[in-house]
Amino acid sequence: MNVTLPQTISAEERAAAQARLAALWARGREFLGTELAIMGGAMSWVSERNLVAAISNGGGFGVIACGAMMPARLDEEIKATFALTKKPFGVNLITMHPELDALIDVCLANKVSHVVLAGGLPPTAAIKRIKEGGAKVVCFAPALVLAKKLVRSGADALVIEGMEAGGHIGPVATSVLAQEILPEITDVPVFVAGGIGRGDAIVSYLEMGAAGVQLGTRFVCATESIAHPAFKKAFLRADARDAIPSVQLDPRFPVIPVRALQNDGTRNFTEKQRDVIARVDAGELDAKAAQLEIEHFWAGALRRAVIDGDVDGGSLMAGQSVGMVKREEPTTAILAELIDQAETALARRSQQFAGALA
Ligand SMILES: Cc1cc2nc3c(=O)[nH]c(=O)nc-3n(C[C@H](O)[C@H](O)[C@H](O)COP(=O)(O)O)c2cc1C
Repeated sequence: MNVTLPQTISAEERAAAQARLAALWARGREFLGTELAIMGGAMSWVSERNLVAAISNGGGFGVIACGAMMPARLDEEIKATFALTKKPFGVNLITMHPELDALIDVCLANKVSHVVLAGGLPPTAAIKRIKEGGAKVVCFAPALVLAKKLVRSGADALVIEGMEAGGHIGPVATSVLAQEILPEITDVPVFVAGGIGRGDAIVSYLEMGAAGVQLGTRFVCATESIAHPAFKKAFLRADARDAIPSVQLDPRFPVIPVRALQNDGTRNFTEKQRDVIARVDAGELDAKAAQLEIEHFWAGALRRAVIDGDVDGGSLMAGQSVGMVKREEPTTAILAELIDQAETALARRSQQFAGALA
């Protein structure tokens, strides 16, 4: 069958697509309390008051990246964000932070509506503490069995993040996680993250059952992002294939995979591992000290890149969707483009369907 699609989308078709999109992500919007079910994935050093407020003011859901902040610093950041937006936003906490309980208390004292727990399986006690304090809990689910466990532990929503994403990644692609988890987890809203750069992809995951999506890389070059101009420039120049996971040379010394743009830092990291392994094999270094040396290599590296603009030696964490970051532009323009692409994709699909029936 040869279906010829119309060149344009009529006002009626556009309106129908808008209504369909509203219906597709109604659950996510309701959960987040937002106009758009688009979460701005927390990015350490990047997702601070300015970008978070810009995403929330634009109708999405900004999320503060607590990262290594201590409780007093987080308190300050949350208050500063409330001063910039009256819209809902969340706070992302890393579960292995030594002050996790105190950080949760800071979120609750400030009446943060949603807390996202990242970086390893969250303790059930932390989930309980947040819920009892009146906030909603969002957890990362790296596999179906863990997704089920997190729902049983009381998670109010899940994020499934595939290995296309920027930053720390798991081994499985977003498309596979989505197929494994979306049909099975229906009790709570599930947000899909990793590799999403366009509205067309948002629509596809919504049609597969996602309540919404989470994007990180796409927001790094927002005008409101405080990332250093050199960091943004590296993003604007990069293609999908430049964002590669960190390499582990020897299984005796595990390296947590981090997806980042290749630079001198990533190359030196390989050299560092080679050197450490040689010293262990020569009996000059014990295994524990070797592991620490490897882990410490990247200490402070994201900050150096994002804040100081050290794009050669710092860590340029970026997802594969970096190739779809074309210019520095206001957050509202990024969101508007994603929505336009989503509506256009839906309208095109209806035209295709109508054409096939004609
Ligand atoms: C520079 C950078 C820093 C990040 N830092 C964090 C973080 O601190 N905590 C976290 O849960 N995820 C972090 N992420 C992951 C994002 O929150 C988000 O899930 C991811 O970027 C989504 O995939 P995408 O980059 O393909 O859009 C980071 C990602 C980037 C690119």
